[in-house]
Amino acid sequence: MRNRHLSRRYPLDLDAWKSLTAHYRQEIKNQTITSLFKSPRNRASKFVIKSGDLTLDFSKNLITAKTLKLFSQLIDEAQIHNSIEEMFSGDAVNASEDRPALHVALRSKLSDQIALNIGDVDKVWVTQEKMGLFIDSLHTKKILGFSGKKITNIVNIGIGGSGLGPTMAVVALRDYWVDGMKYYDVSNGDGLELIDLLSEIEIESSLFIVASKSFTTKETEENAMIAREFLEQNYGERAIKYHFAGISNNKEAMDAFGIQSKFQFMVPEWVGGRFSLCSAMGLSLGCMIGMNHFLRMLEGARRMDMHFRQAPFMENMPMMLALLSIFNTNFLGAKSQAILSYGSRLNKFSDYLQQLHMESLGKSTRIDNRSVSVNTGSIIWGGSASSGQHSYFQLIHQGTQCVPIDFILPIIDTSERKNNYNVANCLAQSEALMDGYKASGTEKVHPGNRPSNTILFERVSPEILGQLISLYEHKVYVQGVIFGINPFDQFGVEHGKRLASTLNEHLNGKKKYNKTNKSTQNILNIIKNLDLYK
Ligand code: F6P
Repeated sequence: MRNRHLSRRYPLDLDAWKSLTAHYRQEIKNQTITSLFKSPRNRASKFVIKSGDLTLDFSKNLITAKTLKLFSQLIDEAQIHNSIEEMFSGDAVNASEDRPALHVALRSKLSDQIALNIGDVDKVWVTQEKMGLFIDSLHTKKILGFSGKKITNIVNIGIGGSGLGPTMAVVALRDYWVDGMKYYDVSNGDGLELIDLLSEIEIESSLFIVASKSFTTKETEENAMIAREFLEQNYGERAIKYHFAGISNNKEAMDAFGIQSKFQFMVPEWVGGRFSLCSAMGLSLGCMIGMNHFLRMLEGARRMDMHFRQAPFMENMPMMLALLSIFNTNFLGAKSQAILSYGSRLNKFSDYLQQLHMESLGKSTRIDNRSVSVNTGSIIWGGSASSGQHSYFQLIHQGTQCVPIDFILPIIDTSERKNNYNVANCLAQSEALMDGYKASGTEKVHPGNRPSNTILFERVSPEILGQLISLYEHKVYVQGVIFGINPFDQFGVEHGKRLASTLNEHLNGKKKYNKTNKSTQNILNIIKNLDLYK
């Protein structure tokens, strides 16, 4: 990807992009999704892709067979297949940071031969073995708290990919929790979540997992220090080594914190934070569900990886999702996209996907340092579709904006009292969004013609979660390649972190604020005049 030549107007000057623009204006714009179902008659069954345990129904989009042909042409012209091979072979697809993005290696088998020549790929299985031993030792009481108590509370201290990923997966796989284990997550930098938690849980049965690839993220540092000081003050220095594990790429920092080597788990440099759940970053999850289930999740992700790499465009689920997303934003003009999950096990899935999409695709500069010529990432939002129906769905149905939706639908939920509510609701919503509703009172009219995808599967399991994670990771990659941007860096966030660090020093009285932002200066003055600061 680093050496990919992009013309000044790329992707606007690709034949496929130009054809899609004309096609949209002449053949799509004045259509309705409902009318497109008249021909071909088998549209409903044709516009479906199956991969592994997942089925994607994309028939409720404003697209025709011709649109799909042009999508396929765009895939070729944007050289997606080359870019996929570059990623799998360990090329520096993260060009600005000059490194590979090898999350696919994390769930590969040695026999898959994925990027074995890249440093640390051979350590993937060593780390997994270490994780497995550690997790088993916790569950079989070979590793105990300092006073000899069994560890039953897992506290994940991490933020961004180091918090959202493990927490999303722990919630999703609740049915696989090892008996007696409890999970807590702490991310907010104000320390309050942790302070509250410390008064609620039994510390002698708790393991604090400090999850931070860099081990320099301020929020995580602060929370880890609060926990460390609490243990030291209440149980003495010797308790620390029993109650802290670390996951990072920064061994020195883990050593300095006092984490014993046996409790340290390395994350390779080439794994991005938001792509890291399948690495040791999933340790908290492994502690909750056991290593076998964790490995089952990796196997699910691997299955989708292989599908992504091998399936032709018309059968390729991540590619299709990416193209639909581009069509809906760059051609239909949607400003945001919602990912809404039915089934409470997936309540945190959208939060996780929000980071994956927005940190990856929120870029205005291309890989060749020129400005992008099309809109890149859109706003991704969502949550529980069930509660959303009783809050923001009104806007989705009758508001002035078109919000394309991915509905994620487990067919069977795991509640004792089985009902079909979620399935019925999901189908009802997507039907209403597509067909609309004609009524005499204008306030009751539902315009319809609003696109949605439905991704359905039997029930949330480790394999299925792995497939879903990989599906969206690859969808994002395809979008990034088509936009000509690097989906693996996040310099915007880094800049904010630097500013915050300077301001923090100023607020702590260590340094003067010597920047010129008048508004910041004024707010600082307001704060400094509060009694609190006098
Ligand atoms: O917010 C930026 C970010 O770098 C994310 O990409 C990352 O997931 C998060 O911070 C946490 O980083 P770390 O794991 O280094 O603490």
